[in-house]
Amino acid sequence: MKTKRATAPSIIARKNTGKKIVALTAYDYSFSRILDTTGIDILLVGDSLGMVCLGYENTLPVTMEDMIAHTRSVKRGNTQALLVSDLPFMSYQISVEQAVSNAGRLMQEGLADAVKLEGGTSEAEKVSAIVRAGIPVMGHIGLTPQSVHQMGGYSVQGKHYSAARKIKEDAKALQKAGAFSIVLEGIPGSLAEEITKEIKIPTIGIGAGPHCDGQILVLHDLLGMNLDFRPKFVKQYANLGEQIQSAVHDYISEVQSGAFPDTEHTYNQKETAIRKMEEAV
Ligand code: KIV
Repeated sequence: MKTKRATAPSIIARKNTGKKIVALTAYDYSFSRILDTTGIDILLVGDSLGMVCLGYENTLPVTMEDMIAHTRSVKRGNTQALLVSDLPFMSYQISVEQAVSNAGRLMQEGLADAVKLEGGTSEAEKVSAIVRAGIPVMGHIGLTPQSVHQMGGYSVQGKHYSAARKIKEDAKALQKAGAFSIVLEGIPGSLAEEITKEIKIPTIGIGAGPHCDGQILVLHDLLGMNLDFRPKFVKQYANLGEQIQSAVHDYISEVQSGAFPDTEHTYNQKETAIRKMEEAV
């Protein structure tokens, strides 16, 4: 079990140590408390919360207020992992000033340790400015869900030479801008391997094969809580969706049959109190 809190420099120092960085998304206090006992390195309050927790079709409707509330909630349960919070759609795209100001809000109001934003070369100036403000930045390139409409869906990126070259350039631009790590999402494993070898900061893969410096998954996907979503890159380590259904079915049938609550789950009055009540009647 880890005892020292992870930091952006401690994550960078893991590159080339042979010890993979392990990250997961988290969205609330209850899960954060459980994850805090596991030794996980990074908790990301991803804007995937829009789909996972808020039921939106994509991440675009997620607001700064949503991100701040969920990040604060995760913060209260977390003592060990580096807490990274996503800058949501349209919270940084407009200007460098807007990006720095909203990154600052995630740190001051959300109590995050670092922020993440999507995009490479086009966002490098913003990454530099946020880093100059003293805020660690995690990049995110390849399949970038905030650009779902531009990509025409959630398809694997960088399959062809020119697209692969562009993603490599993006990784190098983020490194130059001062990012402490980069999420590589939805790209071929061979491209992720090349990028991982060519840059000095850690790569964290999701749907990017085994050669990244670390891996991240959406917590609810890993736990099998999303009953109708199982893409190729997700491995389910539990089947909580079915377990929850089964537990609630048992509860419904026991309440309806009168089996719950039984004496074990019912408070007893003291004998003397019962006698006094009987005398008073
Ligand atoms: O929002 C998110 O959960 C993410 C991860 C999938 C990397 O960006």
